[in-house]
Amino acid sequence: MTGILQGKIAVVTGGGNGIGREAALAFAREGARVAVADYEANAAADTVGLINAGGGQAISLSGDVTVAADVQAMLDATIAAYGRLDCAFNNAGIAPYQVDAAGKLTHEWSESAFDRMIDVNLKSVWLCLKHELPLLRANGGGAIVNTASIAGLIGLRGSTAYVAAKHAVIGLTKTAAMEYAADGIRVNAVCPGFITTRMTTWTRENRGEAIVAGTPLGRFGEPREIAEMVVWLCSDRASFVTGAAYQVDGGWTAV
Ligand code: NAI
Repeated sequence: MTGILQGKIAVVTGGGNGIGREAALAFAREGARVAVADYEANAAADTVGLINAGGGQAISLSGDVTVAADVQAMLDATIAAYGRLDCAFNNAGIAPYQVDAAGKLTHEWSESAFDRMIDVNLKSVWLCLKHELPLLRANGGGAIVNTASIAGLIGLRGSTAYVAAKHAVIGLTKTAAMEYAADGIRVNAVCPGFITTRMTTWTRENRGEAIVAGTPLGRFGEPREIAEMVVWLCSDRASFVTGAAYQVDGGWTAV
């Protein structure tokens, strides 16, 4: 049986861990060859090892998605390896604790924390789009998924710049969807709820019970449950879907 992405070439940022790793594995399972990008080079290489062990094909790329030259180099390497690009999952991101802002109110965030959050969670998505869209255009079309969050749709206490960045990712997504529809390029966002990755370790330990109680499906999500949405959005089965932001959140935002 062939996969829904048979023969496609995909790039995944933040592919060394969590949601990105599961998405890279899902792309490969569905028949795509995958460029796994992460600034944790060993983590990206481990994902590639898992893909190869499963009979798939992948390359690992290291680089910081906030640096334009790194993004360009990452995509150049993808083209050098596979000749074209069909799908991109712009997923690398960080949480407030990674800029020393866990639990801080809006006025308590430092300027440097705010700037870093916007760089990693917003500017990087634009940089990836900037360098991916011409490749997809040259290819006659393709599909992009950006990782937003439920924090792109609602406010979350203690996450001010994270929330601002993720709302903006949805804005970028909608605008790119409009601008490149005529080129056969679909651009969508996925909005995960609370997912079991290292990013939510602190949250699970400190607020886990409250989050589970507030989630209609009564649990945290698994990274593979986001990956399923991502590969579907990248596939021809989603041929009339663009400019959308899909929650995969166990019902959290429905309440
Ligand atoms: P994770 O920490 O497991 O994985 C994130 C990956 O991105 C890591 O491998 C990290 O090395 C990479 N990365 C971070 N900054 C980078 C940079 N500047 N350049 C290159 N790579 C970089 O986290 P997780 O949970 O898999 O998060 C993935 C995405 O999903 C993020 O955008 C996050 O904001 C989003 N998200 C996660 C949720 C969750 O509950 N885990 C909920 C909603 C959104």
